Amino acid sequence: MLKEKINTVFKESYIANFQKIPYYPISFKHGKGAILYDYNEKEYIDFLASASSANIGHGNQEIADAVYNQMKKITQYASVYFPMPEAEILSKKLISILGKKDIKIAYSNSGSEAIDCAMKLAKAYTKRNKIISFKEAYHGATYGALSISAISLNMRKNIGGLIPDIYHISYPNCFRCKYAKEGKCTNLYCLEELTDSLEQYIPANEVAAIFIEPIAGDMGIVVPPKEYLQKLQELCNKYGILLVVDEIQQGMCRTGKWFSFQNFDIKPDIIVMGKSVGAGLPLGVTIAKREIMESLSAPAHVFTMSGNSTVCTAAIKQLEIFEREKINEQVIKKGKHLKGKLNELMDKYEIIGEIRGIGLSIGIDIVNNRIEKKKNYIAAAKIAYNCIENGLLLTFIGKSTLRVQPPLVITNEQIDKAIQIIDKAFENYTNNKIDDRVLLYAKGW
Ligand SMILES: Cc1ncc(COP(=O)(O)O)c(C=O)c1O
Repeated sequence: MLKEKINTVFKESYIANFQKIPYYPISFKHGKGAILYDYNEKEYIDFLASASSANIGHGNQEIADAVYNQMKKITQYASVYFPMPEAEILSKKLISILGKKDIKIAYSNSGSEAIDCAMKLAKAYTKRNKIISFKEAYHGATYGALSISAISLNMRKNIGGLIPDIYHISYPNCFRCKYAKEGKCTNLYCLEELTDSLEQYIPANEVAAIFIEPIAGDMGIVVPPKEYLQKLQELCNKYGILLVVDEIQQGMCRTGKWFSFQNFDIKPDIIVMGKSVGAGLPLGVTIAKREIMESLSAPAHVFTMSGNSTVCTAAIKQLEIFEREKINEQVIKKGKHLKGKLNELMDKYEIIGEIRGIGLSIGIDIVNNRIEKKKNYIAAAKIAYNCIENGLLLTFIGKSTLRVQPPLVITNEQIDKAIQIIDKAFENYTNNKIDDRVLLYAKGW
């Protein structure tokens, strides 16, 4: 059975393998809200939301109607040549959500391109060349975004030189803190890695920006201490370094706030959005103060299709829906419910090392045991595979963390059903009932 599944997916594929991160051999035919259907009409609860790009859920009628009506009028017309109103309307709306004045927006087609835009802006504005980011961070796959990422050797090898003058430091990861052997560290020793670096070998007055994901998604949904981000902000202010937040995966209400950085009371200089901001269509957004935006001249970062009328129409409609449905309040309630249920599982299974996250961005870190906290890749891969087999689309990141990021429209009933499937998968794993051969397929990152 397993072999058959593998063959159906790979045997005749014309898509390059380097664009595949396999978890389970399956394709989706349609979806509604937080439910997906495969080509046999089998139902799956979606705990992945297409890599946190489907916050609005699947098959949303209002978005589909808005897009259809826009496309009947005009799908797109290169707005770099002739301004299109939809992009202006969306910009105004995003700025009002942010609640700031004197802000400008730049559009791209993807999160990676929007990160590149922020890199260009930071360098142009500060007239500095160095950038600091974090080990194990993922910011995208273009040469720029990849240069500040540090998560996968396969992404970096054999492709020649990346952007120079980029330094990677350790992310504040309390669960696997290198500096404190026991308990939760309150001293923020990890910040010293940065302050020491700035004193020893990275001249602070040459650093244009620090790029950080306020919750490190692909690292394993790692939530840093609030004080770390606040101290980071202080350091940036002290040295005239721009603080850039990557909101591509955690933004658009996923944490119960429009932007995840709002959970940490910081004031970033540049905000980068992608994934869900386009309501399912490709859109990257870079947001910064007017004076930062004015440091680049046209055509410094233009793309034929970016911020086109159709994708902007979808994005505007989504913002309307999220406001109307008070989605942030919903996310906080559903997140609480979900986390409560997951915590019950933690009492049952020793291999759950930690459950962490905010709102509907939650990670279940699977370990060998709670003392050593070694990443248990095999258990994560097997449990995720078993969940999918039983109707819950669940994947893992950071080698051992089950990724819980459902569409925000998921219901509590769907959450409860998903929890039963996860519970069963842990039981199956514990009783050695999940075939080792699933590891041939379920490789993940
Ligand atoms: C945090 C983060 N930044 C950037 C990106 C890149 O976005 P895109 O795939 O749209 O280029 C991703 C995608 O996974 C991401 O999770």
